[in-house]
Amino acid sequence: MSAARRAAEAFAREHGRAPSALWSAPGRVNLIGEHTDYNDGFVLPFALPHRTAVAAAPRADRVLAPATLGDDQSLHRGAQLPLDELAPGSTSGWTSYPAGVAWALREAGVDLPGADLVIVGEVPTGAGLSSSHALECAVALALLDLAGRPADGPRAARTAEVARWVQRAENEFAGAPTGILDQTASLGCAAEHALFYDVRSGESEQIPFDSRASGLEVLVIDTRANHSHSTSGYGDRRRGCEQAAELLGVDALRDVSGQELDVALDKLPEQLRPLVRHVVTENERVLAAVADLRAGDVAAVGPRLTASHTSLRDDYRVSCPELDVSVESALATGALGARMTGGGFGGSAIALVHADQRPQVERAVRESFAEHGMDSPRLFTAVPAAGAGREQE
Ligand code: GLA
Repeated sequence: MSAARRAAEAFAREHGRAPSALWSAPGRVNLIGEHTDYNDGFVLPFALPHRTAVAAAPRADRVLAPATLGDDQSLHRGAQLPLDELAPGSTSGWTSYPAGVAWALREAGVDLPGADLVIVGEVPTGAGLSSSHALECAVALALLDLAGRPADGPRAARTAEVARWVQRAENEFAGAPTGILDQTASLGCAAEHALFYDVRSGESEQIPFDSRASGLEVLVIDTRANHSHSTSGYGDRRRGCEQAAELLGVDALRDVSGQELDVALDKLPEQLRPLVRHVVTENERVLAAVADLRAGDVAAVGPRLTASHTSLRDDYRVSCPELDVSVESALATGALGARMTGGGFGGSAIALVHADQRPQVERAVRESFAEHGMDSPRLFTAVPAAGAGREQE
C-alpha cells in the first residue's frame, strides 16, 4: 500500500474524519554534482520511488499536532506544539522537522491554522537519501494547502519558493548547515528524468534519464554506515569553500572555471586547494553528464561518476571505507561507473550497471562488505520517479 494511502487511513482511524490535505514527497539520489550546491554550482539529482506522505486537517486551536506511523504500524504522537511559540530550540527529535517547517512558513508570512498531521515515511532513514527533506517538503505542501495556498502551480516556480522555506527550516530550526539540493530535488524532479539545476540562476531543466532503455540500471548501495563527524565535516568543508572564494575575490567557487583552476590554486594556501579542485572539476562533470544524457548516451556518464568519487574521496575527503568498498567492488564486477551520493561520511553509493550484470554486482558488493567485516548493505535499483505532489484520497 502506498505511503499516502497508509497516511490517509491512519489519519481517519486517529481523528475519526478524513484528512483535508494529502501530499507526498520523495527521497532523492544525486546522480552527480556533489558539494556544489552551496558553491552556487550545478547539481543533477533524480527522485526515488520511496516517498513520505502527510495527511493533514486544520484544528480549531493554534496547535501543531504531528504523529508518525511506525514500522510496527502503531501511531507515535509527537509533542503538541503551539504555533505561536515555535522558535529554533523549542523542540527536538523528529518533531523538529514538522515544527521547523511550520516555523519557516509562519516567518515567511503564511497564515497557518493549527493542524493535525499524520506522517508516513518509506524513504530509508540515515541512508543519505534525504528522508528528512522528503518529510519537510511533504509537510510544507500539506500546511500550505491548509493555509489556502496550495502549491499546485507551475512546478519550477513553486519549487524555488518552497525549497527556500524548507532550507530555512533545516538550517535555522533543525540546525543543519545544508544547501538547497535535496529540497529542490524532492519538490522539482519528474519521473524518467534527472533535474539539471543551476543553483545560482535558479534555472532548471528536466533531462530525460531513462537508464532502462539503454539496458542500464542505477544500483543504490545503502552502506548503513553513518559516521559521527558528518555534521562537523560538512560544516568544515563549507567554510573552507567560502574562505577560498573570499581569498580568490569571487562570490562563490562557481565563478572559477576549469581554465582558471591552476592559476586560482596557486593563490591559495595548501589546505584549501583540494576543496577548490573538487568543486571546479565537479561542476564541469555535471555539465558533461548533462551533455551525455542529452545525446542519449547514458553509458558515457559512468566514468564521470567514478571521477566524481575519486575527487570526493581524495580531494574533498568526505568518503569513508564503506563507500569506497561499495565503489571498488562494483567497478571490479563491471559497473560502468560508481560514486558516493549525498553529503558523505556514510550513507549511500550508486553504481551504473548493465541490467543483466546487476546480480553479480550485488553479490560482489555483499561479499566485499563481509570480507571487510562491515554490516550487510541494503541494495535496490532506483528508477527516476515523480517529484512531490498532491495525492488522491
Ligand atoms: C547534503 C546536503 C546538500 C548537499 C549535499 C552534498 O545532502 O543536504 O545540500 O550539499 O549534502 O552535495
